[in-house]
Amino acid sequence: MQIIIYDNAHQVAESAAKWVKELINKKPAPVLGLATGSTPISLYKQLVEQHKAQGLSFKNVTTFNLDEYHQIDPLNPQSYRSFMDKNLFSHVDIDMNNTFLPTCAVGENPRVQGLAYEENIKKHGGIDLQILGIGANGHIGFNEPTSSLSSRTRIKTLTQQTISDNSRLFKPNEKQPTMAMTMGIATIMNARYVLLMATGANKANAVKDMITGGVSAMCPASALQMHENAIILLDKAAASELGEQNYYQWAESENRKLIEHYGYFHNY
Ligand code: PGA
Repeated sequence: MQIIIYDNAHQVAESAAKWVKELINKKPAPVLGLATGSTPISLYKQLVEQHKAQGLSFKNVTTFNLDEYHQIDPLNPQSYRSFMDKNLFSHVDIDMNNTFLPTCAVGENPRVQGLAYEENIKKHGGIDLQILGIGANGHIGFNEPTSSLSSRTRIKTLTQQTISDNSRLFKPNEKQPTMAMTMGIATIMNARYVLLMATGANKANAVKDMITGGVSAMCPASALQMHENAIILLDKAAASELGEQNYYQWAESENRKLIEHYGYFHNY
């Protein structure tokens, strides 16, 4: 794992945007894995700004989102499709036919839909760079604790903690979904690079378990310890429970020299 600690959440987003930008500029048909939630919003803002100010083009980009609520109408403002439209897609030149979410509409079989999503990712050559957040309970995507480390795209029942963490996003009269389709942990592990962003003190324990705990289904993000190219971007608050901060910072300054010389990606 490459662990990079920044002073604040803005710098985390700035750094994540640099990775995405380099992938888009270097690979002819890049495949991006996207996340929803509060954390990546500032990353998407930066990408939109770079599209407008510097012509960063999404024309040849294909995207696969991590998750989507089960049986939600895509036009529902609470759907992750709406989230992506609002925060990124409608502001850039992406071809909407190349934007995918793991949907399962009323009447569709979640198993068939999950398999089809996996096939579609394969058909596009796999995910080059997967953006991730982390839940306060260590989930990635909606792979809640006890999710199989070998899981693939499927339907999951959300934990009470996730439902209550996300309840802030729903108005009192809105029905909050309790099930979702999500990429599995093995799906995420197949991405060539993963870039996990975590900010705020409420993520500090999950971050500690992910990085310094054992690999366990009880902390799905700990699977990233087994990933060849996992980059973990933290602000100081999210890193506050880590014991080796000086080492991470020193390693990062050494790594930076390599990045300046060779770029961010060595295989994609
Ligand atoms: P958040 O969600 O960015 O809204 O904190 C992260 C997650 O649950 O993966």
